[in-house]
Amino acid sequence: MKLITVVGARPQFIKVASVSRRLRALADVTERLVHTGQHYDDNMSRVFFEELEIPKPDISLDVGSGTHGVQTGRMLALLDEVLLAEQPDRVLVYGDTNSTLAGALAASKLHYPVAHVEAGLRSYNREMPEEINRVLADHLADILFAPTNAAVDNLRREGIEGNSVHLVGDVMYDAALYYGEKAERGSAVLDRSGLRANGYVLATVHRAENTDERSRLATIFEALSNVAEEVPVVVPLHPRSRKALAGFGLLDRAQRDLKILPPVGYLDMLMLEKNALAIATDSGGVQKEAFFYRVPCVTLREETEWVELVDLGWNRVVVPSDADHLSAVITGAIGRAGKDAAPYGHGDAGTRIGEILSAPSR
Ligand code: UD1
Ligand code: UDP
Repeated sequence: MKLITVVGARPQFIKVASVSRRLRALADVTERLVHTGQHYDDNMSRVFFEELEIPKPDISLDVGSGTHGVQTGRMLALLDEVLLAEQPDRVLVYGDTNSTLAGALAASKLHYPVAHVEAGLRSYNREMPEEINRVLADHLADILFAPTNAAVDNLRREGIEGNSVHLVGDVMYDAALYYGEKAERGSAVLDRSGLRANGYVLATVHRAENTDERSRLATIFEALSNVAEEVPVVVPLHPRSRKALAGFGLLDRAQRDLKILPPVGYLDMLMLEKNALAIATDSGGVQKEAFFYRVPCVTLREETEWVELVDLGWNRVVVPSDADHLSAVITGAIGRAGKDAAPYGHGDAGTRIGEILSAPSR
């Protein structure tokens, strides 16, 4: 069985680590890794390959940044060539980025079966580019690896059910368990950044809906400045958000009030999460990692795909429209605990995906 795996953005490097390790341990599976180049800065890409010991990409498309059409279109054109040259038995894609959509679409047009890891997530908000990517990827896929019961239900409502859907748990949980201990041993981020364990709030912001409009971004950072009057706030800043803050004239104040870091490696990020009093984020992955380490989370969005975290009381979704309200919710989250449960499986999603992909009938 020859697999082509397509990744390109930060969260996909983390997801692929747990699965590739399993796939490459299987005698009858050959995996070739394609990096689209959607993320390309060292601290958005190379650091993850090194820290997570992901095999170097076999093929790099180097598409870089662009509008959705330009970026996805470049990927599609280049993936055609790769797939025709490689003739895989199946193409494996992850999550909901433009790299996911391009991988799934290029493969299915050329009649290569597609497997989608993290299938069935829905925000039901088509304003989000990710929602379009994930709906299309799910409808193009012939094997769907769902992380949660809610994801399986979402797929069923769209008529996708039966043998093609596998509830395997969340590969990000595998990663948080596997690398969480390494982070404890290997990360010096707290000392390096002058932070005390359980002495700060961690925040990340990068979604288009939070960064593209000045007023929305200003509200979020004003709220974080308010929080910082009571407790230090550390923000590893996505390049998109750094550019937006600078462009809107908001970066200087953010740098004065908050501890702004460049994007950090995964081990440092896990360490920052584990030791935070609370986390405020619009990231899908970070919401779940907060729960894995039982840190209360505030999600800066209209809705979340990870509905079980809200139900369990570990996460509260707040639309960032009022800075005072938002900062009160973030400081109010400190010390709040939710119910215990295991909605993301048992840390063996990568193993189960490997078993299913290598089963003889596939
Ligand atoms: C993408 C995904 C989003 C995911 C996020 C993870 C899409 C539509 N969005 O959003 O779902 O949550 O990745 O981080 O696929 N940039 C750099 N250096 C880099 C990469 C990006 O400077 O290495 C800057 C560029 O100015 C670029 C901007 O960030 O235009 C946005 O990058 P892009 O990959 O288009 O989208 P993300 O916001 O990263
Ligand atoms: N992450 C990281 N360094 C950072 C910010 C995030 O390693 O500076 C990790 C984070 O721990 C999580 C993943 O990147 O595993 C989430 O990616 P991101 O927030 O970019 O995307 P999303 O999950 O929202 O698609």
